[in-house]
This record gives sequence, structure tokens and C-alpha cells, in this order.
Amino acid sequence: MSKILIRGAQVLGGAAQDVLIDGETIAEVGPDIAAGDATVIEAGGRVLLPGLVDLHTHLREPGREDSETVLTGTKAAAVGGFTAVHAMANTFPVADTAGVVEQVYRLGKESGYCDVQPVGAVTVGLEGKQLAELGAMHDSAAGVKVFSDDGKCVDDAVIMRRALEYVKAFDGVVAQHAQEPRLTEGAQMNEGVVSAELGLGGWPAVAEESIIARDVLLAAHVGSRVHICHLSTAGSVEIVRWAKSKGWDVTAEVTPHHLLLTDELVRTYDPVYKVNPPLRTEADVLALREALADGTIDCVATDHAPHPHEDKDCEWGAAAMGMVGLETALSVVQETMIETGLLDWAGVADRMSFRPAVIGRLGGHGRPIAPGEPANLTLVDPAYRGAVDPAGFASRSRNTPYEGRELPGRVTHTFLRGRATVLDGKLA
Ligand code: DOR
Ligand code: ZN
Ligand code: ZN
Repeated sequence: MSKILIRGAQVLGGAAQDVLIDGETIAEVGPDIAAGDATVIEAGGRVLLPGLVDLHTHLREPGREDSETVLTGTKAAAVGGFTAVHAMANTFPVADTAGVVEQVYRLGKESGYCDVQPVGAVTVGLEGKQLAELGAMHDSAAGVKVFSDDGKCVDDAVIMRRALEYVKAFDGVVAQHAQEPRLTEGAQMNEGVVSAELGLGGWPAVAEESIIARDVLLAAHVGSRVHICHLSTAGSVEIVRWAKSKGWDVTAEVTPHHLLLTDELVRTYDPVYKVNPPLRTEADVLALREALADGTIDCVATDHAPHPHEDKDCEWGAAAMGMVGLETALSVVQETMIETGLLDWAGVADRMSFRPAVIGRLGGHGRPIAPGEPANLTLVDPAYRGAVDPAGFASRSRNTPYEGRELPGRVTHTFLRGRATVLDGKLA
């Protein structure tokens, strides 16, 4: 088996150490490990993190392979430092049966760039009417633990209650896309000063917050786990904080774009900024950062949402919602959380690897960098500065809000069970 010695990296941002990988496993961590016959990677000044885990990725296969495939999406994930992603269920056909989740799982295995854990739909066809075969998806080869109708809200309280009751039996979790449908009819952007000035339909914070409030109460009533996708408002943070103070099993994620961008950008009418939930205000952004720092928000999840240019390069009203995010996520987190002093690298490891793996009950990922553990690792050069160039993306789609923007940091290496998927910043 091949051996790799990562020399002098700051493990979780701490003291410089050597890390020896032997085959699929971390063999040794410490100062001055003898290289022997290992391939040496000089990693002075770089930060070594556990392989990143995304709870929320849209891979689009099956059905929208013009936007992304499992192969291109997992390549993008590897470039971004991820070793595992959860693939959302809003594909065509919807991942609402054991057959479809097994297909996605198998495609992930074949890709080899990143582990793919399929998410199962909560309801048949994401239509919110009838529970999907949650048990069969869990019992399948894909071993589904996370269920979500993401893209749509499970708005029927009885269906949501039944889903929470059902997944409790196998320690599963329902990941809610919190969007009250009636309150967001015709909504085009955050409801506030900017929407009033632009005359675009407003998407009120209460449409998100009312569903979150209901669902944390339902989860407490049932005694089950609920996870809230892409928190975007200060009020949502307050509700999650309250639910956690009660001891309820509630977790939440925030996207990189909601940590950085505001609805002021909608003034450009550039649909690259059109996303669900919408970009909110500066006050919301600051509340989300604080909540990620203090642990109220458990993790960062990309909501990587690739769309082909014909669905984005059009007028605002007609454009699809979503942004690609896998390849820029860590840099945005470095800018918004590390460089503001809100988190250190150990905190980033917690929010982007340890905690998402726990929420998804994902074995083999989000593990300490220690002997005997699987060698799922990400090496970052935090001193790097460069403008984002979507032409170089591994993703099939280019709908990034950061084109031409300088972001800090770069993933130089990603290892999936000891095998480099990214070497010197390039796909291996
Ligand atoms: O912006 C979004 N895009 N939000 C979602 O909830 C769905 C996603 C998509 O599938 O494009
Ligand atoms: Zn969503
Ligand atoms: Zn999504």
C-alpha cells in the first residue's frame, strides 16, 4: 500500500505536525515522522482539516445532467475539499424510492471523487401529500438517514408530524426547507426596503420563521430530530436558539452565500443573486455569523444548486433559483468567519466536517485526525488570494455569485481514504 507523509501542516490550525497516511488510514500523527518510503508533501504554512462534509448538495442526476452529474458534482466537491456530500432528492425522477436512491448511491461509488450519501424525499414526488417509502429507502443499500423535500417545504403539519414519527424509529432526521408557500406566492426576493424600491414581490422573513417555529414544536412533541436547512434570517436564529435552550433535538445549517451576501445585490437585477431562501439584510448576515460562531447554527451546508446558463442568463423573474457553491464554500467561510475572528480553524472543522457528519449519522467521515482513522483529509493554503474564475470550475455549471471576486484560501489537496482526489489544487 502507498504511504504519504504530509509534513509540517497545522493540524486543525494548531501546531505544525507530520501526518503519515498508510493505505486508507492515518497511521501516525506527530512531530518529525521519518519519511521512509512515503511520498512527501511539504505542507508548511498550510492547515490540515478533516475532509469536509456537505449536508446539502444538488447533484441533479438523474434528470438534469445538463446542469450537473454525480461525476461532475463530486469532482467539484473534491476541489472544494469535500470528501462526502448529501445529494438532495429533487431530481427527475424524484429520489422518493429505494430504486432511485440506490441509483444515486451507485453513481457516487463509481465516481470515486467523493462519497455520495443520497437524501430521500419526504413525500411522493415532493408533492407534500403522501409520505414516500422512508423505511424502504433507509433499508436500501443507500442507507438513507436524511429525508428532505428540499426545494419545497413540507407545509402540511400532519405530514410533517408523520415523517418525524416515522424516522424516529431508525434515528433518521427530516431536513426542512422552511418556506410557508402561501406567504411566498409570487415572491422574488427578500421582503424589505430593497424589494419595495425595486417593486419586486417580497419574501417575508416570517414565511421561514413560522415554519421553523412550528417544526421545532412538532419535533419536541414527537421526540424526534429535525434539521432546518439554510437559515437566512435573524428571527430564525432566535427560534433555533430557543428550541436548543429547551433541550430539543434541533439542528440547523447556513449556506456560505447567506454568510456573505445581502439583498442589496438584487439592485443589479443579475439573476446570479436569485436564490431560495433569498439573500437577506446585513443585520441578518451578522446574526447568522454570530449564530454559527456560538453553535446555535450547527454547520455550514453549501446548497450547491447548479443551473445551466439558459436558466440563469435571463430576466430576473424568469430565472431559476440557486447558486453553485462547492468550489468556493471554504474560501467564503475563511473570509466571513476566520478573517473576522469569529471562528478558528478547529471551529471550521467542527462546522464543516464533524457536526454535519453527526447530523447525517455518516460513518467514516467527520473523524478526528488521529491514528487508526480513515484518511479523509483536506489541506488548505490559507494565505492564497485569487479571483474566482468559473471557467475553471469542475462543476458543469457556472452560476457563481463570486465571478471575478477575490476570495482567500485554496484547497491544495483532498484525500479520500488515503487516495488523493486533488493534488496541488488540481483534480487527481
Ligand atoms: O436556491 C435554491 N435552489 N433553493 C432550493 O431550495 C432548491 C435549489 C435548487 O434545487 O435549485
Ligand atoms: Zn432549500
Ligand atoms: Zn437546496
